[in-house]
Amino acid sequence: MKIIMLGAPGAGKGTQAKQIAGKYRIPHISTGDIFRANIKEGTELGAKAKTYMDQGLLVPDELTVALVTDRIVKDDCKDGFVLDGFPRTIAQAETLDRALADMGQKMDYAIDVDVPDENIINRMGGRRACLNCGATYHIVNVPTKQEGICDACGSPVVLRDDDKPETVKKRLSVYHEQTQPLIDYYKEQGILKTVDGTLPMEDVFAGIVRILGD
Ligand code: AP5
Repeated sequence: MKIIMLGAPGAGKGTQAKQIAGKYRIPHISTGDIFRANIKEGTELGAKAKTYMDQGLLVPDELTVALVTDRIVKDDCKDGFVLDGFPRTIAQAETLDRALADMGQKMDYAIDVDVPDENIINRMGGRRACLNCGATYHIVNVPTKQEGICDACGSPVVLRDDDKPETVKKRLSVYHEQTQPLIDYYKEQGILKTVDGTLPMEDVFAGIVRILGD
């Protein structure tokens, strides 16, 4: 099962993608997580990506596309994968389709987690992320057991640099301009499904399971 998660920044793509990966035993591939891991490790890719991410801009395709096309040919992807944060532009979607066609494959589902902009701003201010293991929390909806400490690995959880209100506004405008057109792209392919991302997380996941099957 090959799945793309679509949706605005903070819509809950990562939250749902992790659960999908767990239930259907397929890898969760998040370009945002890959960039953050590179930033943490101090790689050249991380340094380049950070300059764009901190401004709320997309990282250029030449730094992004190969990360995914090289990843999906790995052995653990043979039964499928869930992509989170990729593709983000029509050009990325077309490259992905070509890479899959070369393998005689195609995407099965594009799931749009639909959340209006006004909900997003509130959510992002409350998100806390572990820069060590990538776990995400929310100060109200998903609090850590011990304040400020990751339940999974014991490292501090922080407000991501790109979750500050001005950067979130920029990310939302970039989303509407460059990523939202993918909704029509996948509608035309007949694989678009939409879930109401304003519902509680477990209800959003139940909606996704109804789409994907047990
Ligand atoms: P990325 O990490 O992909 O960021 P994003 O798409 O902006 O998405 P987020 O991770 O912010 O949010 P999410 O939808 O996963 O929400 P989450 O589940 O955490 O990318 C970061 C940057 O990297 C980009 O801006 C860009 O610069 C670069 N980049 C990445 N991929 C790229 C690409 N393909 N091309 C170019 N550049 C790229 O949830 C958010 C919060 O809400 C959490 O606190 C969560 O607990 C809470 N929450 C989740 N669901 C619910 C719910 N149902 N109800 C209440 N609260 C909820």
